[in-house]
Amino acid sequence: MCKVLVLFFLGLGILGCGKVKNSSSSDGGSIVGTAEFVSAMEIVQSKCLSCHNTWATYSSDDYVKKGLVFKGSPANSSLYTRIRGNDVGQAGDMPPGQPTLTYTEIKEIKAWINSL
Ligand code: HEC
Repeated sequence: MCKVLVLFFLGLGILGCGKVKNSSSSDGGSIVGTAEFVSAMEIVQSKCLSCHNTWATYSSDDYVKKGLVFKGSPANSSLYTRIRGNDVGQAGDMPPGQPTLTYTEIKEIKAWINSL
């Protein structure tokens, strides 16, 4: 009887081990692209996507194709000129009703557009 129980629990142990899964897939680093793109998208994710949720899956090229970004020219990129506090002399209004992006954040977005 004892041996049967021991075998039973050994068996459970082996079954249990077989069920262990590798669950290291959710590290949050889902933005794919150049270092400039990743830095810019971290800001867009936190400051813009709450309203512009359609942008969530955009690649760098997608922003260009949709006409939101003009390669190498922040002054011609509505995604940049609409940001309040941008430094190309256009009155931005984004994000509405929320704090203006910091100088550093604005610079990161500009650096991405300039890198294209
Ligand atoms: C609180 C909501 C909200 C947030 C946050 C927000 N926007 Fe907007 N945005 C809007 C709305 C609403 C419109 C459409 C009306 C308009 O054009 O003013 C818009 C329009 C735009 C447009 C023109 C859209 C187009 O397809 O031509 C751009 C570019 C833009 N936003 C950039 C940004 C950027 C960059 C951020 C982050 C720094 C941002 N927005 C954050 C609400 C928001």
